[in-house]
Amino acid sequence: MKIGILTGGGDCPGLNAVVRGVTKSALRKGWEVLGFRDGYKGVVEGRFEILDDRAVSGILIRGGTILGTSNTANPFAYTLGPLGSVKEPRDLSDLAVKNLKKLGVGALAAIGGDGTLTIAHKLHKKGFPVVGVPKTIDNDLSATDVTFGFDSALKVATEAVDNVHTTAESHHRVMIVETMGRYAGWIALRSGIAGGGDIILLPEIPYRARDIVKAINDRRRRGKHFSIVVASEGARAEGGEMTVSRVVAGSPDPLRLGGVSYKIAGLIEKHIDVECRVVVLGHLQRGGSPTPFDRWLATGFGVGAVELIAKKRFGRMVCLNGYTCRSVTLAQAVGKLRRVSPDSQEIRTALSVGATFGNSEIVK
Ligand code: F6P
Repeated sequence: MKIGILTGGGDCPGLNAVVRGVTKSALRKGWEVLGFRDGYKGVVEGRFEILDDRAVSGILIRGGTILGTSNTANPFAYTLGPLGSVKEPRDLSDLAVKNLKKLGVGALAAIGGDGTLTIAHKLHKKGFPVVGVPKTIDNDLSATDVTFGFDSALKVATEAVDNVHTTAESHHRVMIVETMGRYAGWIALRSGIAGGGDIILLPEIPYRARDIVKAINDRRRRGKHFSIVVASEGARAEGGEMTVSRVVAGSPDPLRLGGVSYKIAGLIEKHIDVECRVVVLGHLQRGGSPTPFDRWLATGFGVGAVELIAKKRFGRMVCLNGYTCRSVTLAQAVGKLRRVSPDSQEIRTALSVGATFGNSEIVK
């Protein structure tokens, strides 16, 4: 048996741990493993490396992906030209399948978020045996309790919220920490709870500037002359739009968010008599060594993906259910975002310890 593996979409800590988990467990079954370079780009272009025990040695603790990745390479709508240029989309999925078959690849393990897994699902429907592994710092895939990469991003975000406390307190300022997460507020919510954020702004709960100002002034009246705002990059004002920082042509979701904190600072600074400062965490949240939890989860997912292939359970994605690794069909897994519910227990937990959500309608 020869299997292929690729990492697609944005990188995150834990990808290498999956690559290692897949490779080591496959080698122990006597299989060969081909690692495709730069996500589906490597499949279309026939670029790969043979992964042996040596190739995956020492990578468990390394962030990023030794295989490289791409968030624009889609064999069904291929837009990549020479030197990164973008062309009219072409369907090169037949070529991708032909390349895989020519190399003798019997099954492909695709590691990625919704975009990568949607392509994996289409390849499966086209008749090629595929299994999926869910990755994303955003934790927004509905078919798994958690994705690997999220815990590591949370660690970075929580440390940032912790660290801005002393400078905010010393200068009696409002510090706004902006997290990633795209359309789901999980990183902001959990780091806000874990780091003791005072005002947490999520894409799922549109904010009102006057309610943020009120929360800051209420704290001042209670003798707290600083406030920490944790804002998800997808946060938006009631009736307003998300803040788009750039549009990436050819990407499954071309919108890149970022910069909402500056907007919020401008809105509220006019109405309070303290200064605001902004920290946009950006890609720091995707770097560094994976946390022990993410190493554990990613290793379990990698081994689980090989088990699915061994049992010929194709068209499925490994997932975590409680603390057990299970699987669901790719059809169940893709296209459904898991977002924060404004009336969830987590929101009530945050409210109970005094945090607010920039919207006075969200009360306990
Ligand atoms: O989906 C992961 C993620 O890091 C999002 O949180 C963020 O909005 C986006 O990717 C950033 O993408 P890029 O790396 O293309 O800037």
